[in-house]
Amino acid sequence: MRRLYIETVGCQMNMLDSEMVVASLRKQGYEITTDPLAADTLLFNTCSVRQLAEEKTYSALGKLKKHKLRHPDKVIGVMGCMAQKDQKLIFERAPYVDFVVGPGQLAQVPQLIADTNAGQAHQLAVGLGRRDGSVGEIKRSHETFDPLRDPTMRPTPYQAYLRIQIGCDKFCTYCVVPNTRGPEQGRPPEQIESEARVLADQGCKEITLLGQTVNSYQYRTEQQTTRLSDLLARLHDIPGIARLKFVTNYPKDMTDDLLQAVRDLPKVSPYLHVPLQSGSDRILRLMKRGYTVAEYDEMMERIVATVPGHAISSDFIVGFCSETDQEFEMSVEAIKKYRFKNSFIFKYSERPGTRAMDNLPDDIPHEVKQYRNNELLAVQNAISEEANHAFIGQTVDVLVEGPSKKAAKQADSSGPLVQMTGRTHCDRIVVWEGNRRQAGQIMPVTIYEARAHTLFGEVLTEHCGPEVFTVESPLPLA
Ligand code: SAH
Ligand code: SF4
Ligand code: F3S
Repeated sequence: MRRLYIETVGCQMNMLDSEMVVASLRKQGYEITTDPLAADTLLFNTCSVRQLAEEKTYSALGKLKKHKLRHPDKVIGVMGCMAQKDQKLIFERAPYVDFVVGPGQLAQVPQLIADTNAGQAHQLAVGLGRRDGSVGEIKRSHETFDPLRDPTMRPTPYQAYLRIQIGCDKFCTYCVVPNTRGPEQGRPPEQIESEARVLADQGCKEITLLGQTVNSYQYRTEQQTTRLSDLLARLHDIPGIARLKFVTNYPKDMTDDLLQAVRDLPKVSPYLHVPLQSGSDRILRLMKRGYTVAEYDEMMERIVATVPGHAISSDFIVGFCSETDQEFEMSVEAIKKYRFKNSFIFKYSERPGTRAMDNLPDDIPHEVKQYRNNELLAVQNAISEEANHAFIGQTVDVLVEGPSKKAAKQADSSGPLVQMTGRTHCDRIVVWEGNRRQAGQIMPVTIYEARAHTLFGEVLTEHCGPEVFTVESPLPLA
């Protein structure tokens, strides 16, 4: 039996990729270990979206240097977006890394490990750059990797990600993703449907469809074009699936057929993550986001008019090149106007290989970025808390995920009552005192208290008094 340690940072795509790689290695007899020093093979699934994410990975690799010198038979692999972006540079910075494998070559991981064990050093398996071949060649070099699913690698057995699209063609000027994940490609609907059926058979109740611009999804054959709305309709009636979500949406591609599908298909969550990024038209233009604030506004009006019970979340970048105080204030005003359920707020981080890095100076001081980040977060948190207060006294249907992180850490969590957590149909986090048997059920919870990121509830059918807990804030989506 061989032991695998895998560390994953970045977005849901990376979590899914790790699940797939683990599934393929389990078939080769690997067991997972959470102790890096006990592992035979160590994999780092990396993210390049901000510099900090890369620094963390290089620092984690640095800690393994001595270990690898003492145990040269251990295999260390770097996968994911930083592998595609930095390529050979990783061997220069960390020569004890055995192989580097991009997100489009993950099917090769078992072979790369075998070849390392057979004595090959510094193997590099990456996709073509965006100017390094014909469109077809570049596309083929970024392959989607979706083998058999491994339910044990998921955050919970009842929820799963399902990739419907890889890559991105939007080329926002700040973003590495079109380079690291390659051209946008939709997966065939038949494959997506059969994967969804496998997930349902494995006991999965909620599927989140993934794509960098998920609502741009298209799959064309000579006979027809399948859009996201068609796909949702196709997946909707799979027995066992109770909820369908999809992230992340691109504002320009939020078409009426999609909003109508969200309205008409009861299993589709009325939750839409559709990042605005900035409230200033000049900054949106510099970012090459492809829409104006007025166009975003028009989209929001259509969502409000079409989808009852909707919850919208956003991403913002603060301190983008040349952003003035007034332009930052426009982002503040946008959050106040649209009253997002939540927003993920990021300080601009200059990324090699992007147009912003080549053409625009990163001229906003770090302290100013930090200040704007705190300000925007404070405004968003106050709005999230106000919106959550409206749920007090209401009973909401919650898909129970399991004991909360806090309960999992508590020594006495083996008792009958533990803090449980789950989400509403519109993606709000709920905690209550319940029991482990509730996991995987969709059940009514009555809300009696609300904070910015959490609703506190009780299950009225069971005899348990309300009590106030705190939970950690949700992880950023990307
Ligand atoms: N495909 C998604 C998200 C991609 S990355 C979308 O288009 O919305 C997730 C978020 O990270 C982005 O929405 C953006 O807000 C942020 N981000 C991307 N590049 C960044 C950079 N260079 N610096 C800071 N934040 C960045
Ligand atoms: Fe694509 Fe999103 Fe990056 Fe823009 S921010 S280039 S849409 S992944
Ligand atoms: Fe990071 Fe790649 Fe996702 S850069 S955010 S892991 S697509």
